[in-house]
Amino acid sequence: MSDQATTPGDPTTTPVVRRVDERHRYEILVAEQRAGLTAYRDRDDRRVFFHTEIDDAYAGRGLASVLVEQALADTRASGMRIVPVCPYVAKFLTKHPEFTDIVDPVTPEVRTWLDARLKR
Ligand SMILES: CC(C)(COP(=O)(O)OP(=O)(O)OC[C@H]1O[C@@H](n2cnc3c(N)ncnc32)[C@H](O)[C@@H]1OP(=O)(O)O)[C@@H](O)C(=O)NCCC(=O)NCCS
Repeated sequence: MSDQATTPGDPTTTPVVRRVDERHRYEILVAEQRAGLTAYRDRDDRRVFFHTEIDDAYAGRGLASVLVEQALADTRASGMRIVPVCPYVAKFLTKHPEFTDIVDPVTPEVRTWLDARLKR
């Protein structure tokens, strides 16, 4: 079995995070392969993050942390605030107080709005 079969992409390759506006998400790429995403919807000046996933083949390498850190930094750079509906993003924020000043609470009203946007 080659290394590539067990470790997709070169683990030493620096992952790349990109915002894909038309799909309302940030993607993380390893060796040009998409390894995961964090999805959002924008509500005025708030970016509501609701789901993060890393493909099983890339799990456990800290990629979700890299992805979310860059997504939140980009959100700040856009002059927007963060609403962490996604449990992973919420957990990340407990360990990264540098974002606290731009975090807004997850309210029942935000959840209702999000459910309507996602038609769920
Ligand atoms: C959660 C997930 C994105 C983590 O990806 P990863 O690149 O392997 O994660 P990292 O190595 O960066 O981080 C692992 C951390 O994620 C945490 N984690 C795992 N599943 C989690 C979940 N459902 N909710 C919150 N945190 C979770 C782990 O406790 C670990 O925390 P630690 O760093 O404090 O030990 C990935 O396991 C996944 O896609 N899971 C299925 C989808 C999912 O449950 N998404 C989260 C809720 S939307």
